[in-house]
Amino acid sequence: MKQQALAAKRFGAAAQAYLTSSTHATGVDLERLTELARGLGQPVALDLGSGPGHAAYALAQGGALVTASDLSAEMLAVVAQEAERRGLASLQTRQGAAERLPFPEASFDLVVTRYSAHHWVYVPAALREVRRVLKPGGTLVIVDAVAPEAPVADTLLQTLELLRDPSHVRHYRLTEWAALLEAAGFAAPKSDVWTLPLEFASWVARMETSELRAKAVRDVLAKAAEEARRHFQVQPDGSFVLDVVWLETTPSTDETSADETSAD
Ligand SMILES: C[S@@+](CC[C@H](N)C(=O)[O-])C[C@H]1O[C@@H](n2cnc3c(N)ncnc32)[C@H](O)[C@@H]1O
Repeated sequence: MKQQALAAKRFGAAAQAYLTSSTHATGVDLERLTELARGLGQPVALDLGSGPGHAAYALAQGGALVTASDLSAEMLAVVAQEAERRGLASLQTRQGAAERLPFPEASFDLVVTRYSAHHWVYVPAALREVRRVLKPGGTLVIVDAVAPEAPVADTLLQTLELLRDPSHVRHYRLTEWAALLEAAGFAAPKSDVWTLPLEFASWVARMETSELRAKAVRDVLAKAAEEARRHFQVQPDGSFVLDVVWLETTPSTDETSADETSAD
């Protein structure tokens, strides 16, 4: 199965679990998104890889006219139902892939993507698409787990994630994000990093990880190098903490910096 089909299948089955997940439904970043939207004065916004729509609701609360977009039709059905329940009439949904966005150029004042980019099959193509659909002077916010710069901890993180969820592609390091954004024609991003605790049992249950794979995750965690275990503050039950980043940038005015390499 191809990566996008794999991600759509895994997340389609997990749509309700992601709606009620406190890891996803709460966070200082959601309040910050509401403030950002409010400060922009009714921006036209895209929540890319919306999942069950937590970022979209935060943006709508700040007055944005929001489109929630995702690979998974099941996720978008949850968003439509929940938006109606919350009385958020300014929110609409549109199915699509980050790498080939179904929107004309210069459609949005603000593009936000939260906890999704690590599933994208080819981030350079997706970032070029984001740049295409953003208006000149528009804003891009990426919120996602970030890989440690130390290879010993980076490798552990990618291993855990892939065992837990076969649709995991890669958590990028901050230095990788800076290079990816520059190559896609964005200015150097402002970044804030914080830690997100992950409770092991609910983390694997959310993705319906099989017992065999969950056992492998516990084993990899238990036997990992001390430096990596310390980085992730691994607990006896397998719970650990992730570094999460808020990256905020705008299209660069220097047209020559956009990398034309294609994934096709
Ligand atoms: C962890 S969930 C998103 C969580 C949500 N954004 C939030 O704030 O809680 C990741 C979402 O990314 C979507 N996704 C994965 N790959 C994608 C792609 N290439 N294009 C668009 N959406 C994608 C998945 O279908 C899934 O719904």
